[in-house]
Amino acid sequence: MRSRPYDDAPRLPEGEHVDVRSLVRGEWIEIEIGPGRGWFIVERAGVEPRAGLFGLEVRRKWAAVVDARLAGRGLADRARVFAEDAALALPRLGPDGSVRRVFVHFPDPWWKKRHQKRLVVRDRFIGEVARLLEPDGELFLQTDVEERAAEYEALLDQDVRFAPRGETPGSARIPDHPYVARSPRERRAMSDGIPIHRLRWSRL
Ligand SMILES: C[S@@+](CC[C@H](N)C(=O)[O-])C[C@H]1O[C@@H](n2cnc3c(N)ncnc32)[C@H](O)[C@@H]1O
Repeated sequence: MRSRPYDDAPRLPEGEHVDVRSLVRGEWIEIEIGPGRGWFIVERAGVEPRAGLFGLEVRRKWAAVVDARLAGRGLADRARVFAEDAALALPRLGPDGSVRRVFVHFPDPWWKKRHQKRLVVRDRFIGEVARLLEPDGELFLQTDVEERAAEYEALLDQDVRFAPRGETPGSARIPDHPYVARSPRERRAMSDGIPIHRLRWSRL
């Protein structure tokens, strides 16, 4: 039988409970949701050798390509990308409070109302992030769709598990981030002069 392309893309280990510390080696763990073509995770792994990082990318092709790229740079023990739908994978991850940062770069393009159910950042996603983050751990989100940024603020600013960690007190908005790595969409928006809305919260 013919296999589908990228059928052999890396997957999380089977089972209901996956210990994030068994996936990558590091003083702490960082997760990227939907890395796509993946430059953020590659650059981040290069500049922050203390972190163990992994991405959850629903498109098998990009998960396979970026995971191979990380391995090619000798980073396979510290940085991986798994071909997984974050909505299904996050609930399997643990233990609670074991993750220092969750990055979500340009997750939700501009969709019509009928596509709302495909949004990545929704109540259940935020609940899983809250469960996984360690105290003071960070959720970083960026988008070039202002309306999406406002939706994320509406969801997170009133969530008692999170505190906004933006430039000014009470706001999650930051003009730039300190992670010394850029996602492909971020880089393109920057070179095209498209405004980027960057938001950061920390776990209380
Ligand atoms: C607009 S692209 C942005 C890619 C990358 N983060 C960047 O900033 O260049 C959104 C990415 O999220 C992935 N994605 C969408 N829904 C997802 C889900 N439920 N779980 C994991 N990845 C998802 C898509 O396959 C795509 O690679």
